[in-house]
Amino acid sequence: MTNRLVFLASGNGSNLQAVLNACETGELPAQVVAVISDHKAAYALVRAKQHSVPAIYHAWKPYKGVGQSRQEYDTDLAEIVASYNPDLIVLGGWMRILTMSFLSHFPMRVINLHPALPGTFPGTHAIQRAYKAIQRDEIEHTGVMVHFVPDEGVDNGPVIAKEIVPIYPQDSLENLEERIHAVEHRLLIKGIAAALAKNSIATQ
Ligand code: GAR
Repeated sequence: MTNRLVFLASGNGSNLQAVLNACETGELPAQVVAVISDHKAAYALVRAKQHSVPAIYHAWKPYKGVGQSRQEYDTDLAEIVASYNPDLIVLGGWMRILTMSFLSHFPMRVINLHPALPGTFPGTHAIQRAYKAIQRDEIEHTGVMVHFVPDEGVDNGPVIAKEIVPIYPQDSLENLEERIHAVEHRLLIKGIAAALAKNSIATQ
């Protein structure tokens, strides 16, 4: 059976690309059935179209403009996502915090990728913050993780996969970013496969 993935991304979508490729080569027994972004100009939407995957822009502005809440935005987002009947929802560079108005519809079916180890550098600019922490001798390495998203906690939840990423004294920020993204592109595939396996055991 091919598993159905809905992918949420706010930006470039290099991780989406890794997943699309892994689905096409058969490395991942799955199919990306929709890509949704909260940014109109997200390159992730272009990548989706290039692979004939529905690309949906779900804008926050119209909600904000008439005084509607994040919960109302999230309720509609849940409806769009549910219409694609996903086995798993992948947050790959999705930069909005999802409320329970979304998450309560998909227990154990939302996973998030974060460019840092569990409990470290939640939120935006995690790689830059890790790089600065190294300059101050506060950490010796950083990493990448994939975790379930049970609630509104930021970049926090039961860990599915994680990997340490070394930092070398001669590293520039760009070197570190490159190394982290390379690990992400691999670890996300592993995390999706593990989450799908876990869910299929849970529903048997
Ligand atoms: C990735 O590094 C991902 O881990 C990060 O956004 C980037 C998206 O890259 N997510 C977070 O920081 C979540 N807090 P991409 O658009 O090239 O896939």
